[in-house]
Parts: sequence; structure tokens; C-alpha cells
Amino acid sequence: MILIKLGGSIITDKEKPYTFMRKRTHRLIDEMASSVDEDLIIVHGGGSFGHPGAEKYQINTCEPLRVGEAVSTVQHKMRLLNERILDMMIENKLWPISLPGGLITRYEDGELAEIDEEIFKRYLELDTTPVTFGDVALDKKNRITICSGDDLMLALGRMADRAIFVSDVDGIFKKGKLMSNISHGSLPLTKDDLPSQKASIDVTGGMNRKIEMMLSLSKHCRTFLVNGKKDGRLASLIKGDDVICTEVEL
Ligand code: IPE
Repeated sequence: MILIKLGGSIITDKEKPYTFMRKRTHRLIDEMASSVDEDLIIVHGGGSFGHPGAEKYQINTCEPLRVGEAVSTVQHKMRLLNERILDMMIENKLWPISLPGGLITRYEDGELAEIDEEIFKRYLELDTTPVTFGDVALDKKNRITICSGDDLMLALGRMADRAIFVSDVDGIFKKGKLMSNISHGSLPLTKDDLPSQKASIDVTGGMNRKIEMMLSLSKHCRTFLVNGKKDGRLASLIKGDDVICTEVEL
């Protein structure tokens, strides 16, 4: 099974609230549909459909504001984004099944404690493509919390042969040089490692945290970061061809 995360920075315009990158997402889904010949699970982030609400209601703090309104409206926006992706997947006969992150996980004190693996397995057996996504989840201690796409990737990695993070950078850089492989010994990376100051891998948790998470995932499956802005790279990586990207390995 291949596990693919479409990052929020690639499927939305992070600078403009609630702006879907329609053409780019369509191309990425076409690339998946034309290259994959094994089971697929898709995870997608929130980007400008998730983060504005998460910030407005201070969801990941001890005291989120107006909890009912927060959970309802942020979940709603995430489902609107998800619907757009499902439409495109149906067009490509990928037969998506929507499994909102907040409903198939259990969180305790901000940490993902449990995920319903069984539901993914059963839908894969029906030759469908499970699609899960960043969400607002119930939390045993804090009432609500953000369920991130990265939490979902890490939890589902046990079931996968390969995990691919589709992002807006060519890969991971060390001293300005793109690394085709990176391991624990290269961390932590500093700003000087990046090719330019504005390059970033993800705004949610910071670059080193993201790589640490990918290193944990690589215990279970081969783990890659690829640039989704560049035509054809995702398709080549899925097919196992040589392509510009970074493989993260322990
Ligand atoms: C965020 O999901 C979900 C919400 C804020 C509701 P992610 O954290 O996976 O999203 P991106 O990929 O960083 O945008």
C-alpha cells in the first residue's frame, strides 16, 4: 500500500483563506490515477481551509474559544475542502471513501492514542481509496484538539510499504544542497541549510519536527518528500523511477 499526503501548502493557497488550488490538485490526482497499481490511502492537510479557524478559536491551546462553534465551523470547512478532492478522485475512478480524521481517531492530551485501522483495511478490500484528512477531534483531556495530517500519516505508516509527502519544496536541503537521502545524523538542520530564507517544508510544526516525524515513519515504510508543484514528479516516484526528491531513512 502507498500512503500519500497532499500537504495543505500544495492543495490550497496558504496566503488566502479558503482558496483551493484546483488545477494543481487535479493534476496531482491525475498523476496518481495514471501511475498507481497498488492499494492507495490518501491523507490531506488543511492549509487555508484549516489553519485560519484553528488560530481564530485557539484550538490547540488549553482554553479554546467557543468550543461548539469552533468544532462545528472548522470541521465544516475541512469537509468542503475534502469534497473538492473527492470529486476529482471520482472523475478519475479512484473511488474515494471519506474518513474524516476526527472520527477515526482517539486523542488524549493532544496526542493521537488510537486509529481505526480496521476501517481502512475493509474499504481497501472493496477496491476503494480511503481518504482521511486533518480535522478537529475530540480529546479526552482537552475536550477538542487538532488532528493533523502528519499524525494520521504516522499512525497509518504501519500498514504502508511506502509513504510520500507531497509538498512545495524539492526535498530536504543540507548546506544548500538537495539531499536525495537524509538520516538522523544530519539533524538538526539550520536556516543556513536551506537554499533560500523563504524556503520552508511545512509551517505547522517546523522543519526539524517534520523530519523527526518522517524518521519515525521510516521505521515502518520507505518515506519520501517530493515537490508537487513540478509536473510528473509524483507519478515518477509512485512508479519507482529516478526523480528529484528526498528519501528519509533512519
Ligand atoms: C490541519 O491539518 C487541520 C486543521 C487545521 C483543522 P494539517 O496540519 O495536516 O495541514 P497542513 O498540511 O499543515 O496544511
